[in-house]
Amino acid sequence: MKLWGGRFTKETDQMVYQFNASIDFDKRLYKQDIEGSIAHVTMLAKQGILTEPERDSIILGLKSILTDIENGSLTIDQTYEDIHSFVESHLIERIGDTGKKLHTGRSRNDQVALDMKLYTRDEITELDLLLKDLLSQLLSIMEANLTTYMPGFTHLQKAQPITLAHHFGAYFEMFKRDRQRLSDIYKRLNLCPLGSGALAGTTYSLDREYTAELLHFTGATLNSMDSVSDRDYLIELLSACSTIMMHLSRFSEEIIIWNSNEYRFVELDDAYSTGSSIMPQKKNPDIAELVRGKTGRVYGALMALLTTMKGIPLAYNKDMQEDKEQTFDAIDTTKNCILLFTGMVSTMKFNNTIMEASAQNGFTNATDAADYLVNHGVPFRDAHGIIGQLVLYCIEKNSSLDQLSLEEYQAVSPVFQSDIYEAISLKTCVEKRLTKGAPSPEAMKEIIALGYNYLNGN
Ligand code: ARG
Repeated sequence: MKLWGGRFTKETDQMVYQFNASIDFDKRLYKQDIEGSIAHVTMLAKQGILTEPERDSIILGLKSILTDIENGSLTIDQTYEDIHSFVESHLIERIGDTGKKLHTGRSRNDQVALDMKLYTRDEITELDLLLKDLLSQLLSIMEANLTTYMPGFTHLQKAQPITLAHHFGAYFEMFKRDRQRLSDIYKRLNLCPLGSGALAGTTYSLDREYTAELLHFTGATLNSMDSVSDRDYLIELLSACSTIMMHLSRFSEEIIIWNSNEYRFVELDDAYSTGSSIMPQKKNPDIAELVRGKTGRVYGALMALLTTMKGIPLAYNKDMQEDKEQTFDAIDTTKNCILLFTGMVSTMKFNNTIMEASAQNGFTNATDAADYLVNHGVPFRDAHGIIGQLVLYCIEKNSSLDQLSLEEYQAVSPVFQSDIYEAISLKTCVEKRLTKGAPSPEAMKEIIALGYNYLNGN
């Protein structure tokens, strides 16, 4: 059954019907659509627009539709234009003429705006839980690896020694910000558009604040035209998902590098790796690669919606139906990626010995050697030059700063004494980095404690 047709003299062309229909993808909004309708009729009855028996009969009908969809006895099929028509038609079929009163004082424009907001709220909650789980896995890995030394990189060149705890701590901060972003979006979107009608409100005496309260919004939206044509919250969510994916993708990239034959910093669990159909020796990091790859798809959804929205005059236009497919896909993709990534990271093994050996070579202690000179009165710029000379000498000799003899040191500067070895040991280099947010175990313990407080409070 169509919800319109009175003013038409011809049937819709079949191809037009299919092009126009959205049931194929908006069927996933059935729960939100029914929930919104129940709140709407509850409000209508409170305002005396529907009688209480009418309200009860409609609610009973709607609930039976919900139950039947969920237990599989009612399938949402293509015979309806969209989920709104599907629910309303089935309601009328089940309870008769009273069902025809459901849509009093409502348009599909405010209805779909409501459904999408309800859906977005649920999805934000799910995304948040998945991120929280990822954060708590990261935190336990951090706690267990306060003295797992590894090289820190800039330009993908070994720079200074850090610890695994410190490296993971960087991602902890990123995903923490992602959760904050989600919570901001939730707060901003949490105003109820229902009661805005097609664009200009209605002539019925609706109590919009009451409907908002029933649906756990903080209040009603303030402009009916904006209410039916606002998709900012979807753009914000897609942007937040894009940022989450960007973080996951950077992390994936590092894991792919660390898992490579050249690095061997980590080994992925067999359950999270795949093989090759031709090369028997292969164990590939496909999950990390897919997460990295799917990032493009989520960015695409953001660009698509921004582009769809850019030329739309007020108020509702059918272009907006295009908000759904890619948004659904992007949210599903992001949720899946967080879930799989969390599993991959928490089962991954770290090759501490290889990481530490890698931090030992590559002159990650060169800055500390320069700092040694500074502490003995040499100006930093001169110290930098002296150590630079020593590094060059080591490269030519295929040696490292810790392997040079004291004579070799003193040949370049008499300031060096035998305590230089202690000063540039990996342990010292890390332990002395005590500034807030730095890698020393002492500084990291404080950060980890803050991390636990954060997770317990949020
Ligand atoms: N399927 C539509 C959408 O997703 C529902 C709103 C339809 N409104 C209309 N005036 N045709 O946007």
